[in-house]
Amino acid sequence: MLYQTHARIHLQNIRTNLEGIRRAVGTRRKILIAVKANAYGHGAVEVSRMAEAIGIDWLGVATVPEGIQLREAGIQLPILKFSPSFPEEMSAAVLARITLAVCSRANAEALEHAAQTSGVQAMTHLKVDTGMGRVGVAPEQAADLAAFIETECPHIRLEGIFTHLPVSDEADPEFTQAQILRFQTVVNDVETAIHRKLPLVHCANSGAVLGHEPAWLDMVRPGIMIYGFCPDPGTPRTIALHPGLSFLTRVSFLKKVAAGTSIGYGRSWVAPEDTWIATIPAGYADGFNRLFSNMGRVLIQGRSFPIVGRVCMDQSMVNLGPATTVKVGDEVVLIGQSGDQAITVEEWAQKLGTITYEVTCQINARVERVHDVV
Ligand SMILES: Cc1ncc(COP(=O)(O)O)c(C=O)c1O
Repeated sequence: MLYQTHARIHLQNIRTNLEGIRRAVGTRRKILIAVKANAYGHGAVEVSRMAEAIGIDWLGVATVPEGIQLREAGIQLPILKFSPSFPEEMSAAVLARITLAVCSRANAEALEHAAQTSGVQAMTHLKVDTGMGRVGVAPEQAADLAAFIETECPHIRLEGIFTHLPVSDEADPEFTQAQILRFQTVVNDVETAIHRKLPLVHCANSGAVLGHEPAWLDMVRPGIMIYGFCPDPGTPRTIALHPGLSFLTRVSFLKKVAAGTSIGYGRSWVAPEDTWIATIPAGYADGFNRLFSNMGRVLIQGRSFPIVGRVCMDQSMVNLGPATTVKVGDEVVLIGQSGDQAITVEEWAQKLGTITYEVTCQINARVERVHDVV
């Protein structure tokens, strides 16, 4: 490894999480896993390969290049792009056999054109907005749009219908329950309009997989939970989840400083006593957030030590105290386990005032992902 700051990806844990979901939802239902944003930072190709090998049914992406990357890696599973696409993205998508979400008549017309000119049949799932307020056809217009695709778009095959649940991870179930009912009404309207059943009706993100069984329908669509993290601290833990990654580096430099010595940009920390300072080659450009300046902590040799001074772009400093056994080259845990101590993604999310999703997504591309062999 030519750069010591790296993320160890616990593919076996991700696999165990997937097996837990499979046990919960059964074998007759399909499972689509969200591998967008480089599998939430865990490596989309490696996660998708493992998922394909253990019988996961579908993959979900946010962009056409994400889908093409999976095809170029040889992955054959069906891929759904969750969000609407621009006309100029569509030919490449249909040629890569990426199923596109359609949210409007203009969307459907552009996809029909792209499929026709590319000489292929495009697959689509209708996206309905039942309460997310982001993208999707309005519930009352869904049947008309479905009928339009069915009758006017010979190069599009309408295979599924889906919606998204914005508060399925929260304790109060009322809004989600109402959304599921609204969605089922829309599905009935659509199926009546096109005179056939749609094979894939789906809406269950992680919050709904964990807490709303009526949302499981034909296929579930988990993301964050497969990487071992709960969507919200309050989500019920009905399936055991194991962390998908550790974020690690090593001590690159060590020095003893005298009381009164300042550390780092802005001189925001001054040593109150003679103390050992370790430098680590990890900074905000790696995803070690600058908010950890004088606030974060790391684990070395199974013990917790504070970050002192400001986190730099590529390096940070750690106060080891007046006496130390730490050496240059020792492993430093930014996220993960060291002895019986752990720093969790949840701890980062809470300290940074964000969600677990952003923590793993913000581990930068220059941080090599080292995947466990499964
Ligand atoms: C359409 C869609 N389905 C499923 C997911 C997975 O959600 P989660 O990671 O909360 O399980 C996402 C992620 O945002 C999404 O946008």
